[in-house]
Amino acid sequence: MSMVTGSRLSARALLALAGELDAGSAAYEALAERIRLLIVDGRIPAGTRLPSERELAVEAGRSRTTIVAAYQSLRDTGHLVSQRGSGSRATLPGRAGALDAPRREVDFARAVPPPVDGLQEIVAEVSGRMLQALDGPGFDLLGNEALRRAIADRYTQRSVPTSPDQIVVTMGGQHAISLVAHTILSRSDTVLIESPTYPHAYEAFRRAGARLATTPVTVDGWDVDHLVETILRVRPAAAYLMPDFHNPTGASMAPAGRARVAEAARAVGTVLIVDETTADLTIDRDWDDGPFARHARGASPVSGSGVVTIGSLSKSVWGGLRLGWIRADGAIVRRVVQARPAGDLGTPQLEQLLGERIVRALPELLPHRRRLLGEHRTVMSDALARHLPQWRVPRPAGGLSMWVQLDRPGSSALTSLCEARGLALVAGPKFSVDGSLERFLRLPFTSPVADLDAGVQLLAESWEQLSARATHSTVDERLPQVV
Ligand SMILES: Cc1ncc(COP(=O)(O)O)c(C=O)c1O
Repeated sequence: MSMVTGSRLSARALLALAGELDAGSAAYEALAERIRLLIVDGRIPAGTRLPSERELAVEAGRSRTTIVAAYQSLRDTGHLVSQRGSGSRATLPGRAGALDAPRREVDFARAVPPPVDGLQEIVAEVSGRMLQALDGPGFDLLGNEALRRAIADRYTQRSVPTSPDQIVVTMGGQHAISLVAHTILSRSDTVLIESPTYPHAYEAFRRAGARLATTPVTVDGWDVDHLVETILRVRPAAAYLMPDFHNPTGASMAPAGRARVAEAARAVGTVLIVDETTADLTIDRDWDDGPFARHARGASPVSGSGVVTIGSLSKSVWGGLRLGWIRADGAIVRRVVQARPAGDLGTPQLEQLLGERIVRALPELLPHRRRLLGEHRTVMSDALARHLPQWRVPRPAGGLSMWVQLDRPGSSALTSLCEARGLALVAGPKFSVDGSLERFLRLPFTSPVADLDAGVQLLAESWEQLSARATHSTVDERLPQVV
């Protein structure tokens, strides 16, 4: 199923994305509501042509009137435009600003932690030296030498010898993923991703023209046999992995699994894109295997050392810095730098000055982050145990969120209902590429403590309302059979 902007979505693909609908509302409104969610969260990009009403009615086994009413509802809210002769296209209503920071009372959609304690002092201290950044152009494609050295030294200290020439400084981890995708992938290459995974990564791979294959991850971790077999059989150009505090499950890959995955990838020339944006976010994991790149051994003629690492200060320090990096072999670094100007002209020097001091201070800063995440995880777990005891709530050893299992499918319906009540969520299926995972919800515990409790209460009230509707409709459906 192609999701490139402007593409056409078949009725079958649309229904697969939509999943099971909320049984409580009128059928047309339930369908409209679900399509609206898919458009707003990007699984149906603006510009996508939706199937005709007739085609959708046949595929869904619904009356044409239901589909006509659903499309009309979408047009009324500005999510669809229909033109005679060219069908109906998804659109985004309202102001662009509304798409970015959802102005909800409580935000459980984004895993955005506050600035780490100790950052204020560093900003105050470095601001006196900022003037030196005004001497040159103030931005560059590769990254400031001092910052690259600080990043490289940290890898070296953690037993992965690294030179500054192996580092490209980027504007955050997402930028790094996108640059890597556009540099190392060719159109129609296969990229193996985890399911669930971090959605903006698969969006970047798709935008680079890749086809996606998946391997499962749960809160208990990877099926390493499946992952290794898939690498050996599919021989993907790249595999995108988050071995430490995987987003969204919070799982970490055991060291023995890492070695097997690295070995398989090397054997078939698959580049491992290892995202370590969340790797420093331990709460109480009692082991640390160091950077994944330590498993890269020897050079493959196709993929060099075979591991490209993504790093970022966004989660461990603060997202407002917009500082991340790529660690790769010199050849890949040169290709990234050569390809970069098509998208941006470099990272600002002011942030990089700050970045160097921050990277050197990470050993003192990270314990603060760890304490905050530990406290927030407890508040969130306690609130869920009180209000939603029927949900299966894991206790991740690190990271920013919990991958919660609901007692029945309904993540998208819950997301829509909570949205209307001022609680922003991302439905479980957004973390997969095939519309599954309706039984799951990612709950970040990065909001202020008071919001965590208020948000879980709202979740519980909304879930109760949906569950009551679902029970009702099951009874209604059974009635004709007993009469
Ligand atoms: C796994 C992962 N990688 C990358 C990013 C992007 O991070 P940044 O804010 O540094 O662009 C995120 C943000 O949520 C993430 O969770």
